[in-house]
Amino acid sequence: MAAANAKGGKRILEAKGMTKRFSGLVAVDNLDFYIPQGAIASIIGPNGAGKTTFFNCITGFYQIDEGEILFDGERLHGKSPDQITRAGISRTFQNIRLFNNMSTIENIMVGQEPHLASSWLGAILGLPSTRREEVATEDRARELLEFVGLEGKGDMLSKNLSYGDQRRLEIGRALANKPKLVLLDEPTAGMNPRETIETTEFIRRLRDELGITVVLIEHDMRVVMEISEHITVLDYGKKIAEGLPAAIQANPDVIEAYLGRGAAAAAVPAQGNCIKKTFATTSGIQRKVNHRGHRDTPRKA
Ligand SMILES: Nc1ncnc2c1ncn2[C@@H]1O[C@H](COP(=O)(O)OP(=O)(O)OP(=O)(O)O)[C@@H](O)[C@H]1O
Ligand SMILES: [Mg+2]
Repeated sequence: MAAANAKGGKRILEAKGMTKRFSGLVAVDNLDFYIPQGAIASIIGPNGAGKTTFFNCITGFYQIDEGEILFDGERLHGKSPDQITRAGISRTFQNIRLFNNMSTIENIMVGQEPHLASSWLGAILGLPSTRREEVATEDRARELLEFVGLEGKGDMLSKNLSYGDQRRLEIGRALANKPKLVLLDEPTAGMNPRETIETTEFIRRLRDELGITVVLIEHDMRVVMEISEHITVLDYGKKIAEGLPAAIQANPDVIEAYLGRGAAAAAVPAQGNCIKKTFATTSGIQRKVNHRGHRDTPRKA
Protein backbone atom coordinates (compact mmCIF):
# COMPACT_ATOMS: atom_id res chain seq x y z
CA MET A 1 0.00 0.00 0.00
CA ALA A 2 1.07 3.58 -0.52
CA ALA A 3 1.40 4.09 3.23
CA ALA A 4 4.17 1.54 3.28
CA ASN A 5 5.70 2.99 0.14
CA ALA A 6 5.89 6.37 1.80
CA LYS A 7 8.02 5.04 4.63
CA GLY A 8 11.64 5.87 4.06
CA GLY A 9 10.78 7.19 0.59
CA LYS A 10 12.48 10.19 -0.90
CA ARG A 11 11.61 13.53 0.64
CA ILE A 12 9.40 15.38 -1.80
CA LEU A 13 9.19 18.45 0.43
CA GLU A 14 11.62 19.56 3.07
CA ALA A 15 11.86 22.73 5.15
CA LYS A 16 14.95 23.45 7.22
CA GLY A 17 15.02 26.16 9.86
CA MET A 18 12.06 27.88 8.23
CA THR A 19 11.28 31.19 9.93
CA LYS A 20 8.63 33.75 9.00
CA ARG A 21 8.16 36.96 10.94
CA PHE A 22 5.51 39.64 10.77
CA SER A 23 7.09 42.68 12.43
CA GLY A 24 7.74 41.41 15.95
CA LEU A 25 5.61 38.29 15.61
CA VAL A 26 7.33 34.99 14.80
CA ALA A 27 4.60 33.14 12.95
CA VAL A 28 6.81 30.18 11.95
CA ASP A 29 9.81 29.68 14.16
CA ASN A 30 12.85 27.71 12.98
CA LEU A 31 10.72 24.87 11.65
CA ASP A 32 12.17 21.63 10.33
CA PHE A 33 9.67 19.57 8.37
CA TYR A 34 9.70 16.92 5.68
CA ILE A 35 7.26 14.64 3.96
CA PRO A 36 8.15 11.48 2.03
CA GLN A 37 6.79 11.18 -1.48
CA GLY A 38 3.43 9.44 -1.51
CA ALA A 39 2.55 10.14 2.12
CA ILE A 40 -0.47 11.80 3.70
CA ALA A 41 0.62 14.11 6.51
CA SER A 42 -1.29 16.53 8.71
CA ILE A 43 -0.33 19.74 10.41
CA ILE A 44 -2.33 20.55 13.49
CA GLY A 45 -2.18 23.12 16.24
CA PRO A 46 -4.30 25.73 17.99
CA ASN A 47 -5.61 28.81 16.21
CA GLY A 48 -2.80 31.13 15.19
CA ALA A 49 -0.14 28.41 15.52
CA GLY A 50 1.32 29.27 12.12
CA LYS A 51 -0.19 26.49 10.01
CA THR A 52 -1.54 28.61 7.18
CA THR A 53 1.57 30.78 7.25
CA PHE A 54 3.58 27.59 6.70
CA PHE A 55 1.52 26.85 3.56
CA ASN A 56 1.83 30.46 2.43
CA CYS A 57 5.61 30.23 2.68
CA ILE A 58 5.77 26.97 0.75
CA THR A 59 3.57 28.29 -2.03
CA GLY A 60 5.46 31.58 -2.37
CA PHE A 61 2.65 33.80 -1.09
CA TYR A 62 5.10 34.83 1.63
CA GLN A 63 8.87 34.79 1.42
CA ILE A 64 10.63 33.20 4.38
CA ASP A 65 13.03 35.27 6.49
CA GLU A 66 15.38 32.40 7.32
CA GLY A 67 15.91 28.78 6.38
CA GLU A 68 15.31 26.88 3.19
CA ILE A 69 12.58 24.95 1.44
CA LEU A 70 13.34 22.13 -0.98
CA PHE A 71 10.87 20.51 -3.34
CA ASP A 72 11.99 17.39 -5.18
CA GLY A 73 15.50 18.35 -4.11
CA GLU A 74 15.27 21.80 -5.76
CA ARG A 75 15.34 25.10 -3.90
CA LEU A 76 11.82 26.53 -3.62
CA HIS A 77 12.28 29.64 -1.54
CA GLY A 78 12.65 32.84 -3.53
CA LYS A 79 10.39 31.53 -6.29
CA SER A 80 7.07 33.14 -7.21
CA PRO A 81 3.70 31.46 -6.62
CA ASP A 82 3.41 30.87 -10.39
CA GLN A 83 6.78 29.16 -10.57
CA ILE A 84 5.90 27.01 -7.58
CA THR A 85 2.58 26.02 -9.14
CA ARG A 86 4.38 25.05 -12.34
CA ALA A 87 6.86 23.02 -10.32
CA GLY A 88 3.95 20.82 -9.20
CA ILE A 89 2.53 22.17 -5.93
CA SER A 90 -1.17 23.01 -5.70
CA ARG A 91 -3.16 24.23 -2.77
CA THR A 92 -6.61 25.02 -1.48
CA PHE A 93 -7.44 27.86 0.87
CA GLN A 94 -8.82 28.04 4.38
CA ASN A 95 -11.53 30.36 3.04
CA ILE A 96 -12.75 28.96 -0.26
CA ARG A 97 -11.46 30.95 -3.22
CA LEU A 98 -13.40 30.25 -6.40
CA PHE A 99 -14.39 32.39 -9.35
CA ASN A 100 -17.98 32.75 -8.20
CA ASN A 101 -19.43 33.97 -11.46
CA MET A 102 -17.75 31.31 -13.55
CA SER A 103 -19.19 27.86 -14.10
CA THR A 104 -17.90 24.84 -12.28
CA ILE A 105 -16.07 23.53 -15.34
CA GLU A 106 -14.55 26.93 -16.11
CA ASN A 107 -13.14 27.04 -12.59
CA ILE A 108 -11.35 23.78 -13.28
CA MET A 109 -10.16 24.91 -16.72
CA VAL A 110 -8.57 27.98 -15.13
CA GLY A 111 -6.50 25.60 -13.01
CA GLN A 112 -5.12 23.96 -16.16
CA GLU A 113 -3.71 27.23 -17.45
CA PRO A 114 -0.11 26.63 -16.31
CA HIS A 115 0.10 23.66 -18.69
CA LEU A 116 -1.45 25.21 -21.80
CA ALA A 117 0.78 25.90 -24.78
CA SER A 118 -1.59 28.07 -26.86
CA SER A 119 -1.42 31.85 -26.85
CA TRP A 120 -4.24 34.39 -26.86
CA LEU A 121 -3.25 35.16 -30.46
CA GLY A 122 -3.90 31.55 -31.41
CA ALA A 123 -7.34 31.82 -29.84
CA ILE A 124 -8.16 35.02 -31.76
CA LEU A 125 -6.96 33.54 -35.05
CA GLY A 126 -8.83 30.31 -34.38
CA LEU A 127 -5.74 28.17 -35.08
CA PRO A 128 -6.47 24.43 -35.30
CA SER A 129 -3.80 23.65 -32.71
CA THR A 130 -5.45 26.06 -30.29
CA ARG A 131 -8.87 24.54 -30.93
CA ARG A 132 -7.48 21.03 -30.34
CA GLU A 133 -6.01 22.17 -27.05
CA GLU A 134 -9.30 23.76 -26.00
CA VAL A 135 -11.14 20.49 -26.63
CA ALA A 136 -8.52 18.50 -24.72
CA THR A 137 -8.69 21.00 -21.85
CA GLU A 138 -12.43 20.67 -21.59
CA ASP A 139 -12.27 16.87 -21.77
CA ARG A 140 -9.70 16.79 -18.99
CA ALA A 141 -11.79 19.21 -16.92
CA ARG A 142 -14.81 16.91 -17.31
CA GLU A 143 -12.73 13.95 -16.14
CA LEU A 144 -11.69 15.92 -13.09
CA LEU A 145 -15.27 16.97 -12.41
CA GLU A 146 -16.20 13.31 -12.35
CA PHE A 147 -13.26 12.44 -10.12
CA VAL A 148 -14.30 15.05 -7.55
CA GLY A 149 -17.94 13.92 -7.73
CA LEU A 150 -19.35 16.95 -9.54
CA GLU A 151 -20.36 15.29 -12.79
CA GLY A 152 -23.53 16.87 -14.17
CA LYS A 153 -22.81 20.14 -12.38
CA GLY A 154 -20.27 21.53 -14.84
CA ASP A 155 -22.52 24.30 -16.10
CA MET A 156 -23.65 25.54 -12.69
CA LEU A 157 -22.19 28.79 -11.43
CA SER A 158 -19.78 27.87 -8.68
CA LYS A 159 -21.50 30.24 -6.26
CA ASN A 160 -24.66 28.12 -6.55
CA LEU A 161 -22.94 24.89 -5.49
CA SER A 162 -23.41 23.57 -1.96
CA TYR A 163 -20.63 24.30 0.50
CA GLY A 164 -19.28 20.76 0.32
CA ASP A 165 -19.34 20.85 -3.49
CA GLN A 166 -17.47 24.15 -3.49
CA ARG A 167 -14.73 22.62 -1.35
CA ARG A 168 -14.58 19.68 -3.75
CA LEU A 169 -14.41 22.01 -6.72
CA GLU A 170 -11.49 23.82 -5.15
CA ILE A 171 -9.66 20.52 -4.86
CA GLY A 172 -10.59 19.76 -8.48
CA ARG A 173 -9.05 23.04 -9.57
CA ALA A 174 -5.94 22.23 -7.56
CA LEU A 175 -5.72 18.88 -9.38
CA ALA A 176 -6.00 20.55 -12.78
CA ASN A 177 -2.41 21.67 -12.36
CA LYS A 178 -1.30 17.99 -12.36
CA PRO A 179 0.41 18.43 -9.01
CA LYS A 180 2.85 16.10 -7.32
CA LEU A 181 1.98 17.65 -3.96
CA VAL A 182 -1.27 19.20 -2.74
CA LEU A 183 -1.63 21.34 0.35
CA LEU A 184 -5.17 21.37 1.73
CA ASP A 185 -5.97 24.06 4.29
CA GLU A 186 -8.83 22.80 6.46
CA PRO A 187 -10.57 20.83 3.70
CA THR A 188 -13.49 19.74 5.90
CA ALA A 189 -14.10 23.06 7.66
CA GLY A 190 -17.79 23.84 7.81
CA MET A 191 -18.85 20.45 6.46
CA ASN A 192 -21.56 18.30 7.94
CA PRO A 193 -20.57 14.82 9.22
CA ARG A 194 -21.52 13.04 6.00
CA GLU A 195 -19.57 15.49 3.83
CA THR A 196 -16.62 15.17 6.20
CA ILE A 197 -16.52 11.37 5.85
CA GLU A 198 -16.81 11.63 2.06
CA THR A 199 -14.07 14.22 1.90
CA THR A 200 -11.77 12.14 4.09
CA GLU A 201 -12.20 9.20 1.72
CA PHE A 202 -11.71 11.48 -1.23
CA ILE A 203 -8.42 12.81 0.12
CA ARG A 204 -7.21 9.26 0.47
CA ARG A 205 -8.04 8.66 -3.21
CA LEU A 206 -5.83 11.59 -4.21
CA ARG A 207 -2.89 9.63 -2.93
CA ASP A 208 -4.01 6.07 -3.62
CA GLU A 209 -5.36 6.60 -7.15
CA LEU A 210 -3.43 9.62 -8.39
CA GLY A 211 -0.19 9.10 -6.45
CA ILE A 212 -0.24 12.66 -5.13
CA THR A 213 1.50 13.48 -1.85
CA VAL A 214 -0.88 15.28 0.51
CA VAL A 215 -0.32 17.67 3.39
CA LEU A 216 -3.42 18.85 5.16
CA ILE A 217 -4.10 21.35 7.88
CA GLU A 218 -7.09 20.16 9.83
CA HIS A 219 -8.89 20.93 13.06
CA ASP A 220 -11.20 17.92 12.95
CA MET A 221 -9.22 15.34 14.92
CA ARG A 222 -11.33 12.45 13.65
CA VAL A 223 -10.20 13.30 10.13
CA VAL A 224 -6.59 13.77 11.25
CA MET A 225 -6.39 10.50 13.15
CA GLU A 226 -8.21 8.57 10.44
CA ILE A 227 -6.13 9.61 7.49
CA SER A 228 -2.68 10.78 8.58
CA GLU A 229 0.45 8.70 8.41
CA HIS A 230 2.43 11.46 10.04
CA ILE A 231 1.38 14.43 12.16
CA THR A 232 3.26 17.63 12.94
CA VAL A 233 1.98 19.80 15.77
CA LEU A 234 2.67 23.53 15.81
CA ASP A 235 2.17 25.93 18.67
CA TYR A 236 3.26 29.57 18.59
CA GLY A 237 5.03 28.82 15.31
CA LYS A 238 7.21 26.11 16.81
CA LYS A 239 7.04 22.38 16.23
CA ILE A 240 6.09 20.88 19.59
CA ALA A 241 5.58 17.29 18.46
CA GLU A 242 5.61 15.05 15.43
CA GLY A 243 5.02 11.39 14.78
CA LEU A 244 2.40 8.74 14.30
CA PRO A 245 -1.23 9.51 15.21
CA ALA A 246 -1.25 7.23 18.28
CA ALA A 247 1.84 8.92 19.73
CA ILE A 248 0.47 12.39 19.07
CA GLN A 249 -2.80 11.55 20.81
CA ALA A 250 -0.88 10.58 23.94
CA ASN A 251 1.64 13.43 23.89
CA PRO A 252 1.28 15.66 27.01
CA ASP A 253 2.71 18.71 25.19
CA VAL A 254 0.01 18.39 22.55
CA ILE A 255 -2.74 18.02 25.13
CA GLU A 256 -1.44 21.06 26.92
CA ALA A 257 -1.20 23.11 23.73
CA TYR A 258 -4.82 22.38 22.97
CA LEU A 259 -6.36 22.43 26.40
CA GLY A 260 -4.11 24.63 28.49
CA ARG A 261 -1.60 24.21 31.25
CA GLY A 262 -2.38 21.41 33.69
CA ALA A 263 -4.75 19.67 31.30
CA ALA A 264 -2.35 16.84 30.51
CA ALA A 265 -1.81 16.05 34.17
CA ALA A 266 -5.52 16.22 34.86
CA ALA A 267 -6.45 14.15 31.84
CA VAL A 268 -4.07 11.23 31.88
CA PRO A 269 -4.42 9.71 35.38
CA ALA A 270 -8.20 9.84 35.28
CA GLN A 271 -8.42 7.63 32.24
CA GLY A 272 -5.70 6.14 30.09
CA ASN A 273 -7.34 7.00 26.82
CA CYS A 274 -8.66 10.36 27.90
CA ILE A 275 -6.91 12.28 25.16
CA LYS A 276 -8.39 9.88 22.65
CA LYS A 277 -11.80 10.80 23.92
CA THR A 278 -10.88 14.44 23.84
CA PHE A 279 -9.70 14.18 20.28
CA ALA A 280 -12.86 12.34 19.38
CA THR A 281 -14.99 15.23 20.61
CA THR A 282 -13.44 17.59 18.14
CA SER A 283 -15.91 20.40 18.51
CA GLY A 284 -15.09 20.44 22.21
CA ILE A 285 -11.42 20.93 21.46
CA GLN A 286 -12.22 23.61 18.97
CA ARG A 287 -14.26 25.55 21.48
CA LYS A 288 -11.51 25.34 24.04
CA VAL A 289 -8.92 26.43 21.50
CA ASN A 290 -10.99 29.44 20.62
CA HIS A 291 -11.56 30.30 24.25
CA ARG A 292 -7.88 30.18 24.91
CA GLY A 293 -7.61 33.47 23.09
CA HIS A 294 -3.85 33.79 23.39
CA ARG A 295 -3.44 34.52 19.71
CA ASP A 296 -4.38 38.14 20.26
CA THR A 297 -1.10 38.64 22.10
CA PRO A 298 1.74 39.09 19.62
CA ARG A 299 4.93 37.22 20.28
CA LYS A 300 8.18 39.07 20.15
CA ALA A 301 10.90 38.03 17.74
N1 LIG B 1 -0.07 38.73 6.81
C1 LIG B 1 0.08 38.73 8.14
N2 LIG B 1 0.48 39.83 8.79
C2 LIG B 1 0.66 39.83 10.14
N3 LIG B 1 0.43 38.76 10.92
C3 LIG B 1 0.03 37.63 10.33
C4 LIG B 1 -0.18 37.55 8.91
N4 LIG B 1 -0.57 36.30 8.60
C5 LIG B 1 -0.63 35.62 9.76
N5 LIG B 1 -0.28 36.42 10.78
C6 LIG B 1 -0.19 36.05 12.19
O1 LIG B 1 0.65 34.90 12.26
C7 LIG B 1 0.14 33.99 13.24
C8 LIG B 1 -0.10 32.65 12.59
O2 LIG B 1 -1.24 32.79 11.74
P1 LIG B 1 -1.77 31.58 10.86
O3 LIG B 1 -2.88 32.12 10.03
O4 LIG B 1 -0.64 30.97 10.14
O5 LIG B 1 -2.30 30.59 11.96
P2 LIG B 1 -3.09 29.20 11.79
O6 LIG B 1 -2.33 28.19 12.55
O7 LIG B 1 -3.36 28.94 10.37
O8 LIG B 1 -4.43 29.52 12.58
P3 LIG B 1 -5.96 29.04 12.32
O9 LIG B 1 -6.06 27.64 12.86
O10 LIG B 1 -6.77 30.00 13.09
O11 LIG B 1 -6.19 29.12 10.83
C9 LIG B 1 -1.09 34.64 13.85
O12 LIG B 1 -0.73 35.30 15.04
C10 LIG B 1 -1.53 35.61 12.76
O13 LIG B 1 -2.22 36.69 13.34
MG1 LIG C 1 -5.05 28.79 9.22
